[in-house]
Amino acid sequence: MDKRVRVDSLRGIVMRGPGLAATLPFYLDMWGLKLAHQQDGAAWLKGTGPEAFLYGLKDGPVYGIDHIHFNMPDEAAIDALHAQVLREGGTALGEPARFDDWIGGYGFEMLDPDLRRLRFRAGGLRHDEKPEWAMPKKVSHVVLNTPDMEGVQAWYERVLGFRVSDYSADQMVFLRCSSDHHSIALVRAHYPSVNHVAFEVPTLNEFMRAIGRMKQKGHVPSWGPGRHGPGNNPFAYFVSPSGFVIEFTSELQQIDEVTHEAQVWPRDVPEKMDQWMTAGPPTPAQRAVMQGRPDPGFPELVPTRMDREATR
Ligand SMILES: [Fe+2]
Repeated sequence: MDKRVRVDSLRGIVMRGPGLAATLPFYLDMWGLKLAHQQDGAAWLKGTGPEAFLYGLKDGPVYGIDHIHFNMPDEAAIDALHAQVLREGGTALGEPARFDDWIGGYGFEMLDPDLRRLRFRAGGLRHDEKPEWAMPKKVSHVVLNTPDMEGVQAWYERVLGFRVSDYSADQMVFLRCSSDHHSIALVRAHYPSVNHVAFEVPTLNEFMRAIGRMKQKGHVPSWGPGRHGPGNNPFAYFVSPSGFVIEFTSELQQIDEVTHEAQVWPRDVPEKMDQWMTAGPPTPAQRAVMQGRPDPGFPELVPTRMDREATR
């Protein structure tokens, strides 16, 4: 049995970009999220599940990710993960501590190899679940474009305990931290950027109704609906007002750690990519918007050698 400390689950993501906070009405009136918190011009949105927030909107100089938010079960697990990060040469941004934000709890932040900021938290604010028909319940997964797919995959496995669920040819790898088929997926690309963020609605019927809500408000999917091969999840992709790709999904495959074996899904068999044969392959415009805009991450947060020696 692998003794590696494993990240528990994906909680949410905060995006940043010019004018992002002003797109709040789109998420409230159409996408189906609810306002959880507003502070210093930024907004955090919740779903129908218990998470403090699923999606955050922050103004910033570049279009990209402010941070990806992961859960750990308790404070001991935070400390153990932090120790593993240091042991494996990861870039932690300080020691585990109590968060002084509106959510609270205990944890730390770090940078991944593409300088994306990751935040790990145990505890903190949770809401009572408020089921509402066809509304997003949680963030299902985040898909990241990277120029070093193999290197970043190996890093997520070694430093954070992720496992490979499947591959899509030699272009994409699906990584799980929980029973969800993937919480993070990596796509081979020329530069780091966000490919898309997926929101889970509880049932297939609600998934279709969520698409209908968007359509009635004048937003048709840019790709889908369809059903993926890897993960077996229905998909419908939309383009947000600030040009990010967001997805409705449901019924993502649940993985048995003991019996699951990763496979390589072919890309040259249309029905393996698009099980219902309703979506067709992505158009050039869809590919372009999923390629995204270069996200430099947070090079300014990389500790210098002097910082590291000072904390030794
Ligand atoms: Fe997806």
